[in-house]
Amino acid sequence: MNSSISQNNIIGIFDSGVGGLSVWKELIKLIPGNRMIYVSDNAYSPYGPRPHTEIIARAVEISEFLIKNGAGIIVVACNTATAAAIDELRQRFDIPIIGMEPAVKPAAEMSKTRVIGVLATKGTFMGRLYNSTLRRFGTGVKVVEKVGTGLVDIVESGKADTEEGRRLIEKYIRPMIKKGADHIVLGCTHYPFLSEQIAKIAGEGVTLVDPAPAVARHTLEILEKRGQLCDESIIRSEQTRFYATGTVENLKRVARTILPSLDEGFFNNME
Ligand code: DGL
Repeated sequence: MNSSISQNNIIGIFDSGVGGLSVWKELIKLIPGNRMIYVSDNAYSPYGPRPHTEIIARAVEISEFLIKNGAGIIVVACNTATAAAIDELRQRFDIPIIGMEPAVKPAAEMSKTRVIGVLATKGTFMGRLYNSTLRRFGTGVKVVEKVGTGLVDIVESGKADTEEGRRLIEKYIRPMIKKGADHIVLGCTHYPFLSEQIAKIAGEGVTLVDPAPAVARHTLEILEKRGQLCDESIIRSEQTRFYATGTVENLKRVARTILPSLDEGFFNNME
């Protein structure tokens, strides 16, 4: 294990907004010794409907920012950005780039009804990664896909518990349940922030599958293998610095639902 505070050990994380905090939450649990930088690209949110070329440009700019600030590994905590940009990032930057895996495999393996639902953005469904995962692991199950249009905005604007949020969730989840889905893949990192509401509509006996814990475990393995894992003790609330390309308010609010004592000064605009 490496106990130095070398900059090479910093974990850079980004998403189109606060969604990636659902991955960050797992990362800080599993990797308490490495410093982290989180970027919310909320000035450009949502990524879902944008063309891949635009998302690639955003991902490259943010990765450059993260690396300039010392990141030695990047977690693309966004399914849509993973779908659009992971190949380009891996080609350009000589550090490990970890992406989100659409959790079709575990859902298909665990399903008893042989019907699974996948809720994701248009960009994710259009990506090569999702389609190859589906071909490899989705055979033998019926997959009910729904584009969660509007759900990222609901999370970004703090409206998860509103009538508007409930109606949208119902529109996407009901058809999955009607077709017999017993597992629903949360194929966008924003959706775990709607799990309570989704679970209520899906009802008992339906399991929501969030790939974030697996992505955190994979990040830990890579750090270990590369000698980048730190065993220093950092006070949890001081481990991460946060940046937003738009306003920092929602980022601060949602991050504090996970770690209430985060300092005001840790939230800044990305220059
Ligand atoms: N959290 C992103 C994802 O995982 C949201 C994409 C968006 O901004 O539309 O796909």
